[in-house]
Amino acid sequence: MRKIIDIDFGSARYDELVELRYKVLLEPLGLKFLDKYRDKEIAYLHIGCVDSLDDKLVGGLMMIPLNDEEIRIMQVAVDAKCQREGVGHQLVKYAEDKAKNAGYSRLIMHAMLSVVSFYEKLGFKAEGEVFEEGGITFVKMVKDI
Ligand SMILES: CC(C)(COP(=O)(O)OP(=O)(O)OC[C@H]1O[C@@H](n2cnc3c(N)ncnc32)[C@H](O)[C@@H]1OP(=O)(O)O)[C@@H](O)C(=O)NCCC(=O)NCCS
Repeated sequence: MRKIIDIDFGSARYDELVELRYKVLLEPLGLKFLDKYRDKEIAYLHIGCVDSLDDKLVGGLMMIPLNDEEIRIMQVAVDAKCQREGVGHQLVKYAEDKAKNAGYSRLIMHAMLSVVSFYEKLGFKAEGEVFEEGGITFVKMVKDI
């Protein structure tokens, strides 16, 4: 069984989330592990998915309020061993409900082109031109909630 949880900045779970993000998102791109506690992340919402069998974190994301209406989802990462098992879908759905309950009306995210259809299946739509950041091609995706 897996459950979605809120994660407090600076907690042991947050450390686990930072590790997971590094392993899933940065390491495969040859990017360096930057400072573990980036001060600005204290203002973000952190969400994780935990496997109840061994209490390990298998996925996570963070959300960054942009203004009163819009909130950005970032760094969605699922452990390679658990991908394509519904974890990413559950995480984004939980984030969407949380954003809606907090009064936001629009989700924003920058998706790597390779995962656009994952977000389309969750109701996101691509908006604007593709753009490059650090050699990776992204497109902005939005969802009204
Ligand atoms: C992309 C990612 C977050 C998806 O999470 P996941 O747990 O593997 O995805 P799910 O199992 O919840 O998939 C939900 C649906 O999206 C589809 N999907 C998942 N990953 C996909 C991908 N890379 N490309 C296309 N479709 C994808 C699934 O097949 C599934 O479709 P279905 O409902 O028709 O069966 C995860 O694979 C991951 O962490 N990848 C590496 C890091 C990454 O690219 N992060 C995104 C940064 S923008």
